[in-house]
Parts: sequence; C-alpha cells; structure tokens
Amino acid sequence: MSAPVLQIIIGSTRPGRIGPVMAAWFAERARQQGGFDVEVLDVADFALPVFDEPHHPKSRNYTQPHTKAWSAAVDRGDAVVFVHPEYNHSVNGALKNAIDFLHGEWAHKPVSFVSYGGASGGLRAVQALKPVVSALRMYPTAAAVALAGPQRQIIDGAFVPTPEQNSAADALLDELGALTAAVSPLLDAARAA
Ligand SMILES: Cc1cc2nc3c(=O)[nH]c(=O)nc-3n(C[C@H](O)[C@H](O)[C@H](O)COP(=O)(O)O)c2cc1C
Repeated sequence: MSAPVLQIIIGSTRPGRIGPVMAAWFAERARQQGGFDVEVLDVADFALPVFDEPHHPKSRNYTQPHTKAWSAAVDRGDAVVFVHPEYNHSVNGALKNAIDFLHGEWAHKPVSFVSYGGASGGLRAVQALKPVVSALRMYPTAAAVALAGPQRQIIDGAFVPTPEQNSAADALLDELGALTAAVSPLLDAARAA
C-alpha cells in the first residue's frame, strides 16, 4: 500500500514572503519522518483572484480554469498542513480565499498548522482557521508548530530550527499520521460516493 499524500500548503503569497522557506524546513522534516508521501503546494502558483465562482463550491460546478487547477491539486491529498503567517491577529486573506474556493476537496482530511508571526507565533491565525476547517469537515490535530519571529533563524535562505522546534514538528507529524490512518475509511467512502 502506498503512503498517504501529505500536502504542505504555503498560505502566504506576497513578494518577499517567508512561507516557502518555512515550508521547505517542514517538508524535509516530514520526509525524514517517512510516514507520508510529501507534496508542497503553493497557493501563489494558482494565481487565485478574490473568489469569483458563481456557484457554491459544494456543487463542484466550477467555471474558472484557476479553480479547476486548484481543485485537482487539492484532491490529490490525504492530509494537509497549512504553513501560514498571522496577519492582523487572524488568518491571512489569501489563504482564507484559497480555502473558500473549494469544499468537498477538503472533507475528511486531517489537518494541522505550522504558523508563524511575532511573539504570538501565529497562534491567533490558527485559532481563526480552526472553525473554518471544522466547517469543511477536516479534522485538526491538537499538536501544532508555532514559530515566534522565525526571520531571526533564516540563514542563507534556509530556516535553522532549534531542537525544540524539530521536536514540535515531529509530534505534529506523528499525531497527523495516526489521525490519517484512523479517518481513512471516511475519506475513502467520500471519494467513492
Ligand atoms: C499585512 C500584515 C499583517 C501582519 N499582522 C501580524 C499580526 O497580526 N501578528 C503577527 O505576529 N505578525 C503580523 N505580521 C508580521 C508577519 O507575521 C510577518 O511579516 C511574516 O513574515 C508574514 O508572513 P509571510 O512572510 O509569509 O507573508 C503581519 C504582516 C503583514 C504583511
């Protein structure tokens, strides 16, 4: 049996963002953990405008090529980790917009968060995302990684973690792996329906 696909989704899109650097660290950690087939998805690559579909995403009656591409990409995943900042004490708009574009593609997937920001480590964005992912029938882990001021740890374009940050990433991955196995019958049933 092949390993479940973990999609690590980079949620920030601005020029100069640190999202890709943070995602590269976490993706490497996930590959070392070995429980998942790891894929990095970058919201910026899909050039999503502000939500512009006429129908509720529940119908999957998509009219725009960008929505169809985003839908096909997210469909491939069995579990999700959002790597995302905190903007104005909440989730950044580009990520919320990207989530809103889809519906059933998210359902019955375990989800976790690698957040970053100032002293908060992006935790207020995580708390803002939890009701959103619950509405979409995703299953959030309790374990998460919150990085306070990670810019200080970016050296020559790579994030240099502390041992504690690596341990937090491993704990997240362990919980996410167990949850992915536990809920896979629900995801399989939804895909077969
Ligand atoms: C519009 C905006 C709002 C921000 N608001 C917060 C905030 O509320 N809390 C926080 O900790 N950091 C905040 N920051 C700082 C970001 O956490 C920091 O710039 C981070 O690098 C942004 O992620 P990105 O580089 O992936 O875009 C904000 C940054 C921007 C651009």
